[in-house]
Amino acid sequence: MGGILSGLPPETLSVVYLVSGVLFILGLRKLTHPRTAERGNVISAAGMALAVGVTVLWFEILSPFVLAAALLVGGAVGTWLALSVETTDMPQLVGAFNGFGGGASALVAGAELVDQVGTVGPSELSATVSGAAAVTGLIGAVTFCGSLVAAGKLHGIYEDPIHYPAQNGVKVGVAGVAVLVGIVLVTQSSLGVVSMGPLVEPYWALLAVASILGVLFVIPIGGADMPVVIALLNAFSGLAAAATGFVLNNSVLIIAGTLVGASGFILTTIMCDSMNRSLTDVLFRAYGGPGAGGDGADDVYEGNVVSTSPEEVAMLLETARRVVIVPGYGMAVGQAQHAVAELAQLLDEDGVEVVFGIHPVAGRMPGHMNVLLAEANVPYEQMRELSDINPAFSRTDLVLVTGANDVVNPTAYSGEPSPIAGMPVLNVWEAETVVVNKRSLSPGYAGIPNPLFAMDNALMLFGDAREEIQALVNEYKGSR
Ligand code: TAP
Repeated sequence: MGGILSGLPPETLSVVYLVSGVLFILGLRKLTHPRTAERGNVISAAGMALAVGVTVLWFEILSPFVLAAALLVGGAVGTWLALSVETTDMPQLVGAFNGFGGGASALVAGAELVDQVGTVGPSELSATVSGAAAVTGLIGAVTFCGSLVAAGKLHGIYEDPIHYPAQNGVKVGVAGVAVLVGIVLVTQSSLGVVSMGPLVEPYWALLAVASILGVLFVIPIGGADMPVVIALLNAFSGLAAAATGFVLNNSVLIIAGTLVGASGFILTTIMCDSMNRSLTDVLFRAYGGPGAGGDGADDVYEGNVVSTSPEEVAMLLETARRVVIVPGYGMAVGQAQHAVAELAQLLDEDGVEVVFGIHPVAGRMPGHMNVLLAEANVPYEQMRELSDINPAFSRTDLVLVTGANDVVNPTAYSGEPSPIAGMPVLNVWEAETVVVNKRSLSPGYAGIPNPLFAMDNALMLFGDAREEIQALVNEYKGSR
């Protein structure tokens, strides 16, 4: 069936898809820097609108009424989610979106398979189509179920890793069964020995086995490794979309899916490096998660914790020449970014050298701290990455840690088994004084105590991040 644009020369569609692909690449390029990220988002969205628009008008896929209703419902749900979801819940939303992307790819490939088998018969079906459908079904279903489990874990529905007997053997075994079912699907179609029923059935069997595989893969993985899993599943959702592009012979889907897949794999590698975990460790040697590992908190703190007040910290800031602010998840929870930005601005006006030390996995999603600080108009030049800031701590008068815990935990270097063992952290304890703002001595995401809080040069500023930092700003202003 043709839509209103289908009368145009066939090359037009390819050219428009190519333009969309170029817009995706330009958008992605601009997303690499916070200053240009917003423009990058708009450019990529324009590319997607162009691709969707021309596809809808070229092919008469659905009746205009059904299409309009679907766009309206989808648009309304998307707008509602964008407006209502807290930034702290964004990682699980991204996780769920990855899952829906993978699930949609699997269903579209399945529908196309049914359609093509109905039209040309199984014997005429090309191995490219059935092979691509098998790949889509496998990756798409793993992504769908794995992402929903990961999103549930991030949402705190069930955070602890679930271990089962011979789990790695079971995972490899189920993966093997899924691959076998995929092979049956491809060979049956190329040999043409079966009717439509048995050909299509292996596809749904493949989805079922791959769905089980997705769940089995993610449930044993500890919470501390969840960011890597989300990034990996994001890459999978891209691969599933690219494979669907081969099923549908749609170039823009292949381009978009490949871009998502490649950037997801790059992000996965960066996350693994940031946490000093190999991907094999994350997937097959999973341990940790909230509540796991480490000494008991009483042994670690041994009554050595010293608390302070905004007045006292303001006095310390008056004499400091170099200050580093280290934000963490608690800054997001307390929505303290504006107070923190105001403090940095005041210090800057007073000639104090002030920068932000940002750990790549601080918060609950990649770039979480950068986004919040950018929202509070902190200049990008003041944000330093882990590798840049770590050598500077020994020359720093005061580090203000606000709402961060795991990313400043020296246990990572202790050599003892723990969910953060070997993870590069911010060496804040090398500064002359470290002020840690959090509400209590509760552990962070990895569930382990933090010996930093009991160090001789550490002072605890207990309380909600926004209230305490705002009180500090007021005290500092009053003392100028
Ligand atoms: P965490 O280690 O999770 O520590 C955050 C701390 O903030 C908590 O100890 C909590 O202590 C404090 N806090 C919570 N609400 C607060 C508030 N309103 N005011 C002040 N403090 C508050 O955070 P982090 O150091 O940013 O490390 C991130 C962790 O999350 C890592 O383990 C990382 O692997 C994991 N993770 C990261 C990501 C990504 S991609 N960034 C995704 C998932 C998981 P109190 O309760 O005592 O206040």
